[in-house]
Formats: sequence, C-alpha cells, structure tokens
Amino acid sequence: MSALDIIERAGGGKRMADLKGRDLLTLHDYSPKDISAIIDLADKLKAELAERGSHMRRTLEGKSVVLYFEKQSLRTRVSFEIGVAQLGGQPVVIYSGNTHADRGEPRQDTARVLSRYAHGIVIRAYKHEDIVQTAEWADIPVINALCERAHPCQALADLMTIYEKRGRGKKTKVAYIGDANNIAASLMILLSKVGIDIALACPDGYKPEPALIAKVEGYAEAEGGSVEVVDRPVDAVKDADFVYTDVWVSMGMEEEERERREAFEGYCINNKLMKAAKSDALFMHDLPAHRGEEVSDNVIEGPRSIVFDQAENRLHAQKALLSLLIGD
Ligand code: CP
Ligand code: NVA
Repeated sequence: MSALDIIERAGGGKRMADLKGRDLLTLHDYSPKDISAIIDLADKLKAELAERGSHMRRTLEGKSVVLYFEKQSLRTRVSFEIGVAQLGGQPVVIYSGNTHADRGEPRQDTARVLSRYAHGIVIRAYKHEDIVQTAEWADIPVINALCERAHPCQALADLMTIYEKRGRGKKTKVAYIGDANNIAASLMILLSKVGIDIALACPDGYKPEPALIAKVEGYAEAEGGSVEVVDRPVDAVKDADFVYTDVWVSMGMEEEERERREAFEGYCINNKLMKAAKSDALFMHDLPAHRGEEVSDNVIEGPRSIVFDQAENRLHAQKALLSLLIGD
C-alpha cells in the first residue's frame, strides 16, 4: 500500500493529490488539495506511531535523504533525521561548512552530485534563490527547510496543530505579531489557501511586501478567508483563536539587532495582549523563542502555550511530506 493509498483509504476512496517527484520550494506551488493530502497523512502517521510505536509501511525503505544545512537548526534537523529513519530511509546530514562550498564548489555541481546518491534533498539556506538553483540542477525532489523568505515545513506543522486544537472547517482566526519574516510569509500563504483568517500586526518597515499581500488576498478570497495587516498588536488579536509570534532578529540579520529591538518595542506577547484575544486563545511560536523579547515568560510557559505541540508536529508533517514526494 503506497502513501497515496493510505490517503485514499482515509478519504473514503477519493484520490486526493499526486505529489510524487515534486519540490517544495514555497507553498505558493501547493493547492488546497495538496495541502489537505499532506495534513491527512500526517494525522494518520501520528496516530499510527502513537498506537504501534512504529510504522506499518516504511515508505522510504531503501532511500536516502540528504539534509543540507547552511544555518543552525535544532528542530528541523532532528525531526527530519528521525523522521526519515522512522520511515525506513537513511538520512545524511551535511553542514555546508564541512563541504567544499566555501572553497568554491558551485551549487550546480553539489546538486548534481547529490542527485547521483540520494532520493531527496532537504535544504536550509540563506538565500531563497540558492534553494531554487539547487532544485533546478537536482534530479530529485528538493524541500525548502527555511530560507530568508519561507519556512513551509514549519507552516505545515502549524496548520496540523491548528486543526488538532480547533478542528477543521470552523471559522478560525490567527493573529501574527512581529516581523513579517519567513515564518509569517509561509503562514500567510498556507492559512489563506485553507480559508483561515489571518491578521498581522507589524511595525512600519517590517510589514509584508505588497506583492505578497496581494497574492494571499487572492487565495483568501477564493477560500472564504481574509488577510489583514495592521499596526497595533491589540487590533490584530481581537477575536483571534491563535496568537503567533517569532523572533525579532532572524538568522543572518544579527547586524540589525539594535534597530530591530527598538522597532519591535510594544510587540511582545504578554498576558495583557493574550487577554485581548478570544478567552480561549492559544499561543504559538515556531521556536527558538526569546523570552522577554517577542514573548513573556509567563505566556510561553503558561497553559495556553502550544509551542511544543507545534515542534512535535514537525516530525509528523514532514514524514507525510517525504512519503508523498519521495516515498513508495
Ligand atoms: N522552528 C525551527 O525551524 O527550528 P530550528 O531552527 O531549530 O530548526
Ligand atoms: N525567523 C527565524 C525562524 C527560525 C526557525 C529565523 O529565520 O531565524
């Protein structure tokens, strides 16, 4: 039984999406049908692992997946490495600093060499263009594991978590407070594609690009959702089911640390701000978090925080993705 058969069974025999051989560079390329295929399988894999402690079908048996990192990682690296192994595959972790990249080996050659050994490349890079170029030269699926513009794997795990907590098909609103960075961009794309309302509060200079807003407004309109960008956190969190934030200084932006701290003053998610959301609103963060900056210690450690559920779901969502893109 293939990963798709599992979904067919879960969906009562309805074939949902064929993602075999595809890249995941940004979620713009994925339809609402593709997205629900991934989340459906992630739910099934999570339940199966909890019940049996292992998977009945090891969809990556005999396959190798290269996990290529140009930046630091805890969650992405460990969840992909363990996820590939749980599906019967072999993960190969590479840090670019230990390759010939800094000595001038071109990305085109790296992509072609890896394509001769492995069945997929999961890559975290500084520049989105470098991930696109890797995909252009590789003959195997390439998955974006974070760049300056996107973090699609995080967004998939977040959507799975949102559905777990609130169910599917209900009117749901997510408020994102802070920097309109890679996390915010992927969330905007994914949530708008499944009709979830999203409101962002960002200071001037850190709001999403107008072109991205226009695109996600189009997705939201088609799916019955909405996208709103405001200045004040208190306006974004009104009626929100989820309040989400991320670091003010992303990897690679360390030189801007001082000006960013100043710009984001007043954007910390504390108990007072959580009270302005729905009374049962939940707190989300992709992690790592900086307590006392974008979130107060008592919110992230409080009963409404679901940050570790998000982190866990990275494992399940990515295994579903790998099964559908690379698996048998
Ligand atoms: N959230 C996330 O991607 O964490 P890592 O940087 O630790 O992988
Ligand atoms: N915006 C953060 C996300 C880390 C997972 C960064 O890019 O550093």
